[in-house]
Amino acid sequence: MVEIAHRERVMKAAHLPADNIVAVLYEQHAHIGDQFDVVAESAGAAERSAAFDTLRELIASHEAAEDVVLHRVTEKLLPAGLTRARDDEEESIVRELADLEREPVDGPGFVARLRLFEQSFTMHAAHEETEDFPAVLTELSEQEQAELGRWMRRANRSVSTHPQHPHPAPAGRPVGDAAFGTGTFAALYDEARDRLTRTSQGA
Ligand SMILES: [Fe+2]
Ligand SMILES: [Fe+2]
Repeated sequence: MVEIAHRERVMKAAHLPADNIVAVLYEQHAHIGDQFDVVAESAGAAERSAAFDTLRELIASHEAAEDVVLHRVTEKLLPAGLTRARDDEEESIVRELADLEREPVDGPGFVARLRLFEQSFTMHAAHEETEDFPAVLTELSEQEQAELGRWMRRANRSVSTHPQHPHPAPAGRPVGDAAFGTGTFAALYDEARDRLTRTSQGA
């Protein structure tokens, strides 16, 4: 089911100009979906830990960029109940990922919990694709959609190429612990959001 959803996303993105904001967001959803499989299928704690770090960074920069760009647009286009529901989903993604970060990546329950978290993320992405994205495509001009898409690509490049600062691990956990990697998701998200907000303000 998840694989079909990925293919549909790639196909939908292929019908939009490459710089269109909705195409950029579809691509990111598909990329994140693929990375869930990379984490689940990786062998050994070091490989899985590295793949999980990549997944967390992808989700952090994607959700932060949506928060800074997409939500400012959809808040004006969608009923308040829908945007509130989307915010609640994103808060629960942060909570679920924080729980997952406490699980050792090579522990017996990690992959099952990862897949549960993937279901939450996939559901959230599907809601954005069916409710938020159509509003953007119908209410904004093609030029506005392209400008936002270009901004998003630039912003994500600046986040992904910026060296990550090591974040302190929770008390009692050494930095580099296999269960935590380089930093908690909440810290990655805050860092990405701060940088994107500064970028959007031209700082
Ligand atoms: Fe989102
Ligand atoms: Fe999204």
